[in-house]
Amino acid sequence: MLLAVGCSSQKLPPNFKFGAATAAYQIEGGWKADGKGKSIWDEFAHTHKDAIVDGTNGDVAADSYHLWREDVRIASELGLNQYRFSISWSRILPSGLPNNMSKAGVKYYSDLIDELLKQNIEPVVTMYHYDMPLKIQDLGGWTNPLIADWFADYARVLYSLFADRVKTWITINEAVVICDMIYNTGILAPGIKNEELGPFLCNKHLLLAHAKAYRVYEREFKDKYNGRLSLSHNILWIEPYQYPRDKELAKLGLEYMIGRYSHPIFSKEGGWPPSVEKKLLEYSLKQGFNYSRLPSFTEEEKQLLKGSADFYALNYYTTHMIRPAKEGEKGTWFLNGSPELGAMLEIPADAELSASVIMPVYPKGLRKTLSYLKNSYGDIDILITENGYPGKHQMYDHVRLKYIKDHLTQVYLAIKEDKVHVIGYTYWALMDNFEWNSGYSVTFGLYAMDHKDPKKIRSPRLSSQYYACVIKTHEINVSDECVNENIEKLHLQEYHSFGNSVCASKALIVLLILFYFS
Ligand code: NOJ
Repeated sequence: MLLAVGCSSQKLPPNFKFGAATAAYQIEGGWKADGKGKSIWDEFAHTHKDAIVDGTNGDVAADSYHLWREDVRIASELGLNQYRFSISWSRILPSGLPNNMSKAGVKYYSDLIDELLKQNIEPVVTMYHYDMPLKIQDLGGWTNPLIADWFADYARVLYSLFADRVKTWITINEAVVICDMIYNTGILAPGIKNEELGPFLCNKHLLLAHAKAYRVYEREFKDKYNGRLSLSHNILWIEPYQYPRDKELAKLGLEYMIGRYSHPIFSKEGGWPPSVEKKLLEYSLKQGFNYSRLPSFTEEEKQLLKGSADFYALNYYTTHMIRPAKEGEKGTWFLNGSPELGAMLEIPADAELSASVIMPVYPKGLRKTLSYLKNSYGDIDILITENGYPGKHQMYDHVRLKYIKDHLTQVYLAIKEDKVHVIGYTYWALMDNFEWNSGYSVTFGLYAMDHKDPKKIRSPRLSSQYYACVIKTHEINVSDECVNENIEKLHLQEYHSFGNSVCASKALIVLLILFYFS
């Protein structure tokens, strides 16, 4: 099998795992099937139609509640080693509390897990992906300190049901979105905007909820099942806008972005990053509070959190540049800046734009993030739990193919050159789904799914064929032959050799240079 012309081999390690991801509200539908309780997204999408660009919702979505066998079939067709999906808390526990468990909900996830294992696909299970049971939200959700115990109770239910078969768990997906983005904007469920205390109460309680869920596993299940747990963090890589002027600000920006959610768990000292703690206290006092808006941890809480993860779970999408805010400018973390840091974020000039304004494409940021995590928290295993391209509806999605290839190249370099221990890569998403405020107007899927199609057929895009070849060979610069072979099998005819043209032009430049100096 020939490699694409002019490209040298770039192989990921033999034990490297390839996956794809989805989340319950975004794919399942069946929003009130078989006694499922309401989640904040069921409620929000019905009551805030105008917050969703196409006025749609996840009532039916990809109908995975009924078509889950199809999901496993396409995962297996791709050759995935892992499938990351989330469990809807209110499908298992309709009121959020463990005194009332839904048999139908349990059966749904149990069957899905069994089928995945039958196909040799390892389930990677997220316990919470934005869909808080409404009844728990009514009691304050993440701003109520009791959430830590309620979440730990829910986690215990999941372990007792599935830990015999699930060995990799993600407690909570993207804390920074749940706390900072949601409470700073109110544009996502539950639609509450409270910039002063919301993000920071949520930050603390969410971390404690994670830690309590981790300790339940450690105490009651680890010996028997030996699984691994973490929480997945969405990292926006941050570069100085003007160097060296903004170097220190970028450092603080990264502590604010990454450290606030990672330092308490992964650092040797534990607790909040000192620079962030100091900044927030100063800012709060200046605002007229007589305490920091970032609540402190007790010594006991610090110990509970420290070391409460077995690997780092990273969602990487994009990079921004940071600069001091000008007079009158006020950003919103983590969209475009932070009043607390007195900073604004800018899109890098050399980033490529995508169908999502907040996600310009910047693969180099992934390698930098991976190195940063190693340098900050030691030589830990890192699982990339999300990375994906927001596009439109094309089937011949050359740009997505290039996106995956470019990001995998950065992973390859991080492993080879920077010796970072990256153990796997998960593409978001297995198929098109409900993209929160963007509804179905933006697509991420390796497989297309038209939400208007009553059958919700999953159709392979070109990128899926490239990804299948990478999975089969672990080679990033896959041969055209491999992609074409699969395309023929899938009756796609129109493959333009994108990989080749990139590699061939590089080869041509090398030839010209050699010719010039000969
Ligand atoms: C992160 C979230 O986990 C997921 O739900 C979302 O669809 C993707 N990013 C793309 O925005």
